[in-house]
Parts: sequence; C-alpha cells; structure tokens
Amino acid sequence: MSALAAGLTLSACGGGKSSDTAQDSTAVADTTDSKVLVAYYSATGTTAKAAAEVADATGGTLYEIVPEKVYTDEDLDYENDNSRSAIENKNPDMRPAIKTGLDTAPYETVYVGFPVWWDKAPLVVYTFLDSYDFTGKKIIVFATAHSSGLNPSFDALKAAYPNYNLTEGVILNKTSEKAFDEWLDSLKK
Ligand SMILES: Cc1cc2nc3c(=O)[nH]c(=O)nc-3n(C[C@H](O)[C@H](O)[C@H](O)COP(=O)(O)O)c2cc1C
Repeated sequence: MSALAAGLTLSACGGGKSSDTAQDSTAVADTTDSKVLVAYYSATGTTAKAAAEVADATGGTLYEIVPEKVYTDEDLDYENDNSRSAIENKNPDMRPAIKTGLDTAPYETVYVGFPVWWDKAPLVVYTFLDSYDFTGKKIIVFATAHSSGLNPSFDALKAAYPNYNLTEGVILNKTSEKAFDEWLDSLKK
C-alpha cells in the first residue's frame, strides 16, 4: 500500500508542507519488497512516523532500533549540558546498548532513519551500524529534524563507516509528498 493510499501525510510528522495534495501515487511501489529493511530510531515518535511511510512506500520491513535504556525527557534535554544526550554528544565514541537479534541477511537495501541530534545521528544509530555487518548492502540515510539539514549527520556517518555503501537521503518531516515520491523514485535509478 502506498503512503497516499494509507492516508498518511508527511506533514503529520511535524512541520512538513502539505501543499502537494494531488500527485500521482503510481510512482510509489505497491508490493512488499522482502529485500528492503527500514530501520529507525525515534525518541519522540516523529521519525517513527516517517519510517512507517518509507516502509509503506517501499514495501520494506520496518525495524525499530530500541535502546536497552530508553531515553527519558530528561535524557533528551539539550539545554542541559549534563543530560544523557548532551554527554553522548560530547563523547562520540560511546555506544549506548541497543536490543539486538535482527537477521540482516535477507536485506539488500537498508534505510536507516533517525532524529538529528546536534547535527549528528544519535549514538544508538552508530551502535546499530556496529552491531551487524552491512558490507555490500545499500544503506540509505534519512532523518527528521527541527531545522537542520541531513548533510552534517550524513557526512559524520560516512566518515565513521568508510567501507559501507551509504546514500544520503532527505529530512522527511520537511518534505512534501511529491518530493517524497520523487526521492524514492530517484533511488530506483
Ligand atoms: C538531544 C536533541 C538534539 C537535537 N538536535 C537537533 C539539531 O541539531 N538540529 C535539529 O534540527 N533538530 C534537533 N533536534 C530536534 C529533533 O531532531 C527533532 O525534533 C526530531 O524530529 C525528533 O525525532 P523523534 O520524534 O523521532 O525523536 C534535537 C532533539 C534532541 C532531543
């Protein structure tokens, strides 16, 4: 089922534009693609919604990256220098534990989505990429954010994983449905 057929709008992810209401949903795949994984981390639900739309549109399998210790509101307080997220931001080699057990073997394409934290991916995303061997798979990075672009987060991931085949995607809560469909279409070429 396509994102449009599901009645979902990217603007529901917060801050998105909903001006493109009448586009051609045929650009979006309608079948399940068992080779596509859509892995995401989401602290407050925005990326979860965006990832569900990516899974819906690509026919991929949705997979949540779950920290062993969930981030509380206090942990997410970016105005507090001593919050858990702020401490992790200052210590990029930290790898907060996540729940594991995913079988990555069936997947050729892996979408990885996250909320931008200080212009980077949260460290649990690094833990995820460290936890499995993604060699030879196409990894497509997307995110949600308040105002940042994806590029600094993407460049940091690229530097950390030079041997992985990473493709820069988009900030999904700032993307119209038309741009969303065009983005997914461009990935097929
Ligand atoms: C610790 C922390 C740091 C953040 N840093 C940024 C940032 O650098 N740039 C930005 O645009 N938004 C930033 N945000 C906002 C989130 O990226 C944004 O709200 C995101 O959509 C939340 O996604 P989620 O609901 O899936 O967790 C930050 C949020 C938190 C909690």
